[in-house]
Amino acid sequence: MQPRTLYIKTYGCQMNVYDSARMADVLAPLGYAQATTPEAADLVILNTCHIREKAAEKVYSELGRLRALKEARTSGGQEMMIAVAGCVAQAEGEEMARRAPVIDILVGPQSYHRLPELIATVRRAGGQALETEFPVESKFDHLPDSAAETGVTAFLTVQEGCDKFCTFCVVPYTRGAETSRPPEAVIDEAKRLVRSGVREITLLGQNVNAYHGEDAGGQVWSLGRLIRHLAEIDGLERLRYTTSHPRDMDDDLVSAHRDVPALMPFLHLPVQSGSTRVLDAMQRLYNREQYMERIGWMKAAKRDISITSDIIVGFPGETQAEFEETLSLLDECQFDAIFGFKYSPRPNTPAIHMEDAIPDVEKSRRLTFLQEKQREIQRRRNQNHIDQILEVMVEGKREDRSQWVGRSSQNKTVNFTGSGDCAAGSYTSVRITSIFPNSLVGELVI
Ligand code: 5AD
Ligand code: SF4
Repeated sequence: MQPRTLYIKTYGCQMNVYDSARMADVLAPLGYAQATTPEAADLVILNTCHIREKAAEKVYSELGRLRALKEARTSGGQEMMIAVAGCVAQAEGEEMARRAPVIDILVGPQSYHRLPELIATVRRAGGQALETEFPVESKFDHLPDSAAETGVTAFLTVQEGCDKFCTFCVVPYTRGAETSRPPEAVIDEAKRLVRSGVREITLLGQNVNAYHGEDAGGQVWSLGRLIRHLAEIDGLERLRYTTSHPRDMDDDLVSAHRDVPALMPFLHLPVQSGSTRVLDAMQRLYNREQYMERIGWMKAAKRDISITSDIIVGFPGETQAEFEETLSLLDECQFDAIFGFKYSPRPNTPAIHMEDAIPDVEKSRRLTFLQEKQREIQRRRNQNHIDQILEVMVEGKREDRSQWVGRSSQNKTVNFTGSGDCAAGSYTSVRITSIFPNSLVGELVI
């Protein structure tokens, strides 16, 4: 087998990070080893994201740069195959193939197990290979086992796709309908990860708490049940899951937070808006009061739970008063972080046809206001950590600053110093001495 090299550039969400690793796994038996730059690669994969504007434009400009590299390599007698994967390939594959002849392969997120075949087709017959149908078989049944992880934290996809059809979102069109992996497959993969040194696993899904995996006996498992089983794996210290939908929060998951020590006190629960009128126009399937009720359940189950959220400003027709309802929701919820976005009209989504578009300057003003308000909330909340001793999982060392970096149980970044040594993957106690809105600083407690 001829040794070859592979370079993958990943855009967007954590699910794409997981998928990129699995693409590398499926290509390893073909002799592809990972390269650190595209210049040295026989195969370049762009794993793209379609969630917000300019996604496709970014890919086209990257393809422009790659075209020059490809020409340089082929004129030197070497190969450079270019594949576009991910949600842009799924949504705009045919147009991309026409507009960018430099692309050899276009492959949607459900078909990564077919990459070896697509590569062989292009090599044999030339031309472009396009694979964006939703296949009947699950890619998970056809991807090889994940290769040994090198780090102590890992992602594990348990659920994919979305049936919610929020009016602003492309995901139901690019990732398809909601599907869950069988619990046995998830547990096996988690055990393998732990054997290769992983101590912390984040379960991934577009609607992870809508998980409904069917086991071999035909029983359907909830996410809460899956978490209880995973928590029993020896050596698995910490579990997290993301991203949840407020509508799918159930008692099982809430009580898992109360009962399972390995389940970290952390929840990412996108709210999108604090206005019931806007939530309705977004088709989020809950109102402000129902969202607040769910926050109440979680805080009652786990007093120190850290909750983060996503917020969209400038949805069509959002008034200043409705925007202010979002600001008041920030006060009420006391999130530990938010990801704020300006509404971005996406092709094929219902919201693109809605009236009363908000001008971009106004969206920017609202976003800045929102983020400044949240920064103050985080600064105040992080003040409570001063002098606390937190259990931190060490992720690595920043040699330039002689600082270790790790994460608290609430998923906050902790930078710390101290004499002695800390191995990546070990747990240590850190006394917090100062704070920033987005991180904590401390000293090792010996
Ligand atoms: N415009 C702006 N933000 C969006 N998101 C999803 N679609 C859009 C859009 N069209 C945001 C939502 C979601 C996060 C992943 O991206 O807040 O929770
Ligand atoms: Fe998109 Fe809504 Fe589905 Fe989340 S729940 S992936 S925002 S459609």
